[in-house]
Amino acid sequence: MTDSSNQDLPEFEPTASRAPVPAVFFVVFVVLFYLSTLYLDSNAGGFDANVYEPFASYDVVKAIQPKGNLDLRFEKGRMAYAAYCSPCHQNNGAGRPGQFPPLAGSDWVTAEGPNRIIRVVLNGLMGPIVVSGQDWNPPAQMLSWRELSDEEIACIVTYIRGQSEWGNHASAVTAEQVAAIRAEVVTRNTPWTQAELFETPEQ
Ligand code: HEC
Repeated sequence: MTDSSNQDLPEFEPTASRAPVPAVFFVVFVVLFYLSTLYLDSNAGGFDANVYEPFASYDVVKAIQPKGNLDLRFEKGRMAYAAYCSPCHQNNGAGRPGQFPPLAGSDWVTAEGPNRIIRVVLNGLMGPIVVSGQDWNPPAQMLSWRELSDEEIACIVTYIRGQSEWGNHASAVTAEQVAAIRAEVVTRNTPWTQAELFETPEQ
C-alpha cells in the first residue's frame, strides 16, 4: 500500500520575501498610544511615589496606630460619642448654654468613679442639676441610651472621662463595670434626678 495522503495538495514551496506593514497599523498604534497617555495622565498620580506611599516610613505607620487596647477603646468611644452624644453636648464637649450642660470639665464626668455617669447614660437625666458649681435647669431631659451595648457605653464613658483636650483626665471604664450597673438598674425605665444619683456613691 502506497502513501497517497499528499497527492492532492498543490506543489507549494515557502519562499522568503518582504511585504510592507499596512499603514493602518501605524494609525491604530498612534491612536492607542495617545489614548494610553491620556489614561496615565489622569490615573497614574503623576508618577509621584507619595501617591502610593503616603507614609514616609514604617515608623510613621507605627506612630499613628492605636498604642494598645486602651487607645483603641478611646478611639471607639470618640466615634460613638460623635454619633450619639455630640448633637447635644457638641464635639468639643462644651454643650450649649441653657440647653445642654458641658461634659468638658464637668465634675459629673470626671468624678472619682463612673458610677453616676454610667447611670446617666443608661437611663438619662432630668430636672435641675449643678455642673461644676453652675446651676442648670435644661428645658429638655436627657433620654436613655440603654440600647447601646455595655462595650459601647464603656468606650463612650472612657472617652469623655479621658478626653485631655477637654481637660478631662479621669480613669477608664470597662464593659464589666457597665454590665454590673445595668443589672442593678434593669427594672428602671425613667431618667434619674440629681437627688437620686446623689444617693449612689461616685465609686
Ligand atoms: C438630646 C440631647 C442629648 C443627647 C443626645 C445626650 N445628652 Fe447628655 N444631657 C442632655 C441634657 C439636657 C442633660 C441635662 C439633663 C437635666 O439635668 O435635666 C444631659 C446631661 C448629661 C450628663 C450630666 C451633666 C454633665 O454636664 O456632666 C452627662 C454625663 C451626659 N449628659 C452624658 C451624655 C452622653 C455620654 C451622651 C451620649 C451617649 C449624651 N449625654 C447624649 C442632653 C443630651
